[in-house]
Amino acid sequence: MSVDAVLLVGGKGTRLRPLTLSAPKPMLPTAGVPFLTHMLSRIRAAGITHVVLGTSYKAEVFEEHFGDGSHLGLELEYVVEEVPLGTGGGIRNVADRLRGDTAMIFNGDILSGVDLGAVLDTHREADADVTLHLVKVEDPRRFGCVPTDGDGRVTAFLEKTDNPPTDQINAGCYVFRRSVLESIPAGREVSVERETFPGLLASGARVQGHVDASYWLDLGTPAAFVRGSADLARGIAPSAALPKPAGEAIVLDGAVLREGATVTGGATIGAGCQLGVDAKVDGAVVFDGAVIGAGAVVERSVIGAHARIGDGAVVRDAVIGDGAVVGANCELRDGVRVWPGVHLPDGGVRFSADA
Ligand code: GDD
Ligand code: MG
Repeated sequence: MSVDAVLLVGGKGTRLRPLTLSAPKPMLPTAGVPFLTHMLSRIRAAGITHVVLGTSYKAEVFEEHFGDGSHLGLELEYVVEEVPLGTGGGIRNVADRLRGDTAMIFNGDILSGVDLGAVLDTHREADADVTLHLVKVEDPRRFGCVPTDGDGRVTAFLEKTDNPPTDQINAGCYVFRRSVLESIPAGREVSVERETFPGLLASGARVQGHVDASYWLDLGTPAAFVRGSADLARGIAPSAALPKPAGEAIVLDGAVLREGATVTGGATIGAGCQLGVDAKVDGAVVFDGAVIGAGAVVERSVIGAHARIGDGAVVRDAVIGDGAVVGANCELRDGVRVWPGVHLPDGGVRFSADA
């Protein structure tokens, strides 16, 4: 069975603003490399080599970085939507690039340990039109809720519903029979979750579920993003892009750590960063060129490229945009986001998003 992979990477990554103002979500660095590198490495490890990226928002960034994909052992193609076509429209839009009868579709923000070969086996054994990778989560309301019957057959698809009938959700990876993919209407916006899947179920198509309990995380929010990066660094989340788990810290080329500075909890320190005396970075992602002052504490946060955190500042569960300056002794907590280039003065400004 020849399988093409399709990656949906056209979303705006709104929940990760301001980080996604300068880079599309799948290109944000996680454990030292653009997130997509981890996904591509797992696709390659499963033996799939032809990958089509459905892009829209900041489309050019992907090709600039990954090129033809040959350095990853892949053949990459890019299909740009001038106007975003939605998830279903994005899938339909790449139909003429497919080479085989089976396409494996991926949301571009999922960190997962699922055995892709096993998902394909389920699809083949059930002779399904579409097979969905499903996982169980604590709060299914933020996802597509997908109940199945005793044979694993999907009985409904309820995107972001307030009263989900089960904790089993769409994990953002589908196998499509090519003819079914081609039946999605072309040239207009289509949501695969709200239109295609419910339509297929209503028409009696065979939609199969593949339930899996391995590592799974959608990196769409700042909290999930920092956790995903730390889990990758520590080897809790699988990636074929990291030869071995890095452990408690990834410190990239040219970063300078002064005396007493500590990096723990799977944190990544980007290239050329500077950490002052006794600075503490725990479970955070620090982009290239950022400066963390003496005695500053940065926990579970993202520090944008070339941002500066002043001496003695405390940054917990926050997102600091590229080039922003957080003055000495400021305290930022609980989901605060500082926009790129903003300067917060020295002297103990305290912000909590809950306040
Ligand atoms: N090409 C293209 N065009 N891609 C798009 C578009 C578009 O118009 N809109 C969104 N995407 C891509 C995003 O870049 C992302 O990789 C993927 O589609 C899913 O979009 P998200 O914005 O991350 O959706 P979500 O997380 O709220 O929900 C989706 O994923 C959940 C699993 O994480 C849904 O598929 C849910 O049903 C699912 O449970
Ligand atoms: Mg998502």
